[in-house]
Amino acid sequence: MTANPAKPLSGEVYYPSPDVIEQARVKDWEALAAFANQDLEGFWAREAEELEWFQKWEKVLDDSNKPFYKWFVGGKVNIAHNCIDRHLKTYRKNKLALIWESEDGKEHRTFSYFALNREVSRMANIIKAMGIQKGDRVTIYMGRVPEIVFAMLACAKIGAIHSVVFGGFSVDALQGRIEDSQSKLVITMDGSYQNGKVVELKRTVDEALKRCPSVENVLVIKRVGHEVPMEAGRDHWYHDLLALPIASGKCPTEVMDAEDPLFILYTSGSTGKPKAILHTHGGYMVGTYTTLKYVFDIKDEDRWWCTADPGWITGHSYLVYGPLLNGATSFMYEGGPTYPYPDRWWQCIERYGITIFYTAPTAIRGLMRFGEAWPAKHDLSSLRLLGSVGEPINPEAWRWFYRVIGKERCPIMDTWWQTETGMFMITPMPVVPLKPGSGTRPFFGQRAEILDEHGNPVKDGEEGYLVLLRPWPSMMRTIYNDPDRYLQQYWSKYPGKYLTGDSARRDEDGYFWIIGRTDDVIKVSGHRLGTAEIESALVSHPAVAEAASIGLPHEIKGQGIHAFVLLRAGYQPSPELGEQLRQHVASHLGPIARPEEIHFMDKLPKTRSGKIMRRVLRARALGLPEGDVSTLEE
Ligand code: WTA
Repeated sequence: MTANPAKPLSGEVYYPSPDVIEQARVKDWEALAAFANQDLEGFWAREAEELEWFQKWEKVLDDSNKPFYKWFVGGKVNIAHNCIDRHLKTYRKNKLALIWESEDGKEHRTFSYFALNREVSRMANIIKAMGIQKGDRVTIYMGRVPEIVFAMLACAKIGAIHSVVFGGFSVDALQGRIEDSQSKLVITMDGSYQNGKVVELKRTVDEALKRCPSVENVLVIKRVGHEVPMEAGRDHWYHDLLALPIASGKCPTEVMDAEDPLFILYTSGSTGKPKAILHTHGGYMVGTYTTLKYVFDIKDEDRWWCTADPGWITGHSYLVYGPLLNGATSFMYEGGPTYPYPDRWWQCIERYGITIFYTAPTAIRGLMRFGEAWPAKHDLSSLRLLGSVGEPINPEAWRWFYRVIGKERCPIMDTWWQTETGMFMITPMPVVPLKPGSGTRPFFGQRAEILDEHGNPVKDGEEGYLVLLRPWPSMMRTIYNDPDRYLQQYWSKYPGKYLTGDSARRDEDGYFWIIGRTDDVIKVSGHRLGTAEIESALVSHPAVAEAASIGLPHEIKGQGIHAFVLLRAGYQPSPELGEQLRQHVASHLGPIARPEEIHFMDKLPKTRSGKIMRRVLRARALGLPEGDVSTLEE
């Protein structure tokens, strides 16, 4: 789409203002899209050349063993070198890389690229001293403090594979992820602050490690000052080690193969336990760099704020790696949006002069509830672009964000992507006309299609399965230790096409509208959870014989979890038991997984082969037709 297309677009459309067009790095979207379409490798090679390689690649894309694609084959690189080292040779050395504010607003910490290098090097040296080598896995389980950024980059710098587990997850989730990754080291904190409360991270680690023999060391960062048990020989205070000579501020950056693993990140898929999505140094680097550059048009004078937690892919790609690759100044806030008051975020935008603000629909809906008086108390005129991610944004929330926060000046980049894609896939750019609730069109070089059950493209306006047709550099490489599942889950339904797991439709202007997941993934406040994990937490309670969980529409969270349980003999349904079960899930899996409601059942709808038909539960709850129930057990 060009800024002012010849044919007017249908529906509610917001065209970019002359100001926005004037500032935008890409003015002719169409031309760049055409180039990338006809020369995919050429487009990505040109982007990759903007970054530094220890040795240039021999081949941009190797598709000889599809769908195990390889990018920048033969290239030698390290993403940490491009996030930090590269900038030290330029004026950016003294530029702020990271600005941080504590939840209570009383502490501020800032790091220039020079300081970031020192902190990351010190942590890298400490991690090495703990015996971690290239290829070893390190689990990071922390709150939103600068040290989580250091920890991720330190791993990258020495070639270790980080596995960040969201600090809002509880013991079962953490234990499963440590065990599956066979991490030797866990980096954590005594606790973190969240909405005025302390989350006891170290205690959860202790609990999890009772069943994780692979872990040799635990590195503990002091944040809240709570007394925590420290196991001699295993647990180490980070500040104690920082005082030792090993914690030098200089550490060589490891030369990695472009295809060497950078991190794994666990995410929920259909059925079964979470999958470890694997990303690599070279392709992931080029993908996150390029997308942030074009979509959010990051420039040196910008101050970028991505509100996501580093425990999710959005935090990985667009809080940690993408901004640093672009040499940007990034802001990170420790706490939640409404503590102590619902203007906490608006206060930060004003205080730090944020120019680009990237957040989630659930947060916007939550903040909308408090009314316009809260944002009105603050000067938000520094903003020039807004962004949304994680779930479809309802037009009402879009318009509020646009009008009340962006003052009708700031285009909203509604970016559709996934843990698996690593980078934005369907997304506007500042010059692209917007329609509230649509991510507009695929990113440069990508093509998307909407298919019916048999693999035929559906007509415009009809709903179907969203697939991606062309490889991209930051695509997941595999599921760590489970390549068969990678093939099965993403490439088997429509051979040669990447199955996203989402349903969508396309309108007559070629704009894509995401509807939601077609599998057993529930998006709660933008957080991706799997029914299997919730159900297994439920059946670990002595009262529960069987359980099924589904997502149902929720005004703020997008989706809320509803659980249907069958009790064991001797247990009676009661509101107290329902409350106990909700609490049980929260304490085992994490507060974000707490069901809205527990429904006690006499029986669950199942197929003749014994599979629970969640689709039928959902239809019944919503009063919709149950669809094809021919496989339903008598
Ligand atoms: C959903 C988050 C609509 C979608 C980056 C996808 C979205 C899943 C959008 C991936 C968006 C993400 N509009 N839906 N802009 N962004 N989704 O892995 O269902 O946590 O498949 O990655 O979130 O969730 P994940």
